[in-house]
Amino acid sequence: MKVLITGGAGFIGSHVVRLFVNKYPEYEIFNLDALTYAGNLENLRDIEGASNYKFLKADINDVLEIDALFEKYQFDKVIHLAAESHVDRSISDPLAFVRTNVIGTMNLLNAAKGLWKDNFKEKLFYHISTDEVYGTLGETGLFTESTSYAPNSPYSASKASSDHFVRAYGETYDLPYIISNCSNNYGPNQFPEKLIPLFINNIIDKKPLPVYGNGDYTRDWLYVIDHAIAIDKVFHQGRNKETYNIGGINEWKNIDLVKLLCKIMDAKLNRAEGSSAELINFIQDRLGHDKRYAIDASKIGKQLGWKPTVTFQEGLETTIDWYLDNEEWLKNVTSGKYKDYYLNQYSSK
Ligand code: NAD
Ligand code: DAU
Repeated sequence: MKVLITGGAGFIGSHVVRLFVNKYPEYEIFNLDALTYAGNLENLRDIEGASNYKFLKADINDVLEIDALFEKYQFDKVIHLAAESHVDRSISDPLAFVRTNVIGTMNLLNAAKGLWKDNFKEKLFYHISTDEVYGTLGETGLFTESTSYAPNSPYSASKASSDHFVRAYGETYDLPYIISNCSNNYGPNQFPEKLIPLFINNIIDKKPLPVYGNGDYTRDWLYVIDHAIAIDKVFHQGRNKETYNIGGINEWKNIDLVKLLCKIMDAKLNRAEGSSAELINFIQDRLGHDKRYAIDASKIGKQLGWKPTVTFQEGLETTIDWYLDNEEWLKNVTSGKYKDYYLNQYSSK
């Protein structure tokens, strides 16, 4: 089986590529990635020499190149993760999200449909999406697979749009597809623009910790390898034309999470307890900031036997240890353009 994984040099994609390359030596795994600021082949050094692995540097926005690659390699199945993934960047540059997340996904759908048109048997377009398509929750309730879409940020609107196109290709052309919508991931290799790795990096450097608003926002956190395991299960056992919600059953208010992170890092860095928490800096809120996300993951639990395996304390410890042990990785990704991004995002707030 020839499996195309898009966005495999990014955070979640690299964990999915590693899992598939190691677990399925009989599959040919193709990792297609444009290597944007978020893509990093350092994430895959340990498997890059594997005989069942091939890296393809390509942009999903380049329709001719995508068509040519489908023609050349005759992929059987696609796991599509490539995307612009950071909400704050979508607020300052929404069009970039339409290009990659909507048009890029369309290009892949068209290429798959074109290649598979005579025979959809044993074919699959598996689209990786987010719980943010459902919008925001109040104090109670959970997102289920039948919650209405109500995206609030340009990022979530672009992901919702791509989900709709995937579904529409299933309904209109009978293209076999599955969609999964996951909550916030954390773990090794996450680019330090997202809350947890950004704050780990700032604590190491004793820089302010920019908490948006009053920190009273809730996210449901899942360790990235548990997400990769869920993707493996959905890919192999998920039902055609269905969607699966994936979540950590692990809700945290941002401010409580930040305080926990500070506490663990004080201990690991041999700093006085409470010293990192002094870096907390409440700043101007994110525009359109969603109040609360929380996933009802009972469908994937009942149907596919998946549940998270890593506790939040274990996952956070492993994640922090990884960043402390991989100073070089952190230095490389936070040099150059990262500094401009950081100044633009945080200096005026
Ligand atoms: P990421 O930003 O770390 O990685 C995205 C990858 O896509 C990078 O390697 C980048 O180079 C590549 N890419 C971007 N534009 C491309 C293009 N035009 N052509 C080819 N490659 C391109 O993202 P992530 O956090 O690993 O998220 C992966 C997927 O999972 C995304 O679709 C995201 O919406 C979804 N998701 C993420 C989370 C999360 O918490 N991070 C949760 C649920 C769903
Ligand atoms: O829910 C799934 C989504 O989770 C994914 O689809 C997205 O790709 C991923 O980026 C993530 O989106 P969030 O906006 O929830 O993640 P982020 O890490 O940017 O922010 C988490 C919370 O922390 C959110 O309430 C905003 C807050 N925050 C974030 C940053 C970067 C801060 O208070 N300060 C910050 O500097």
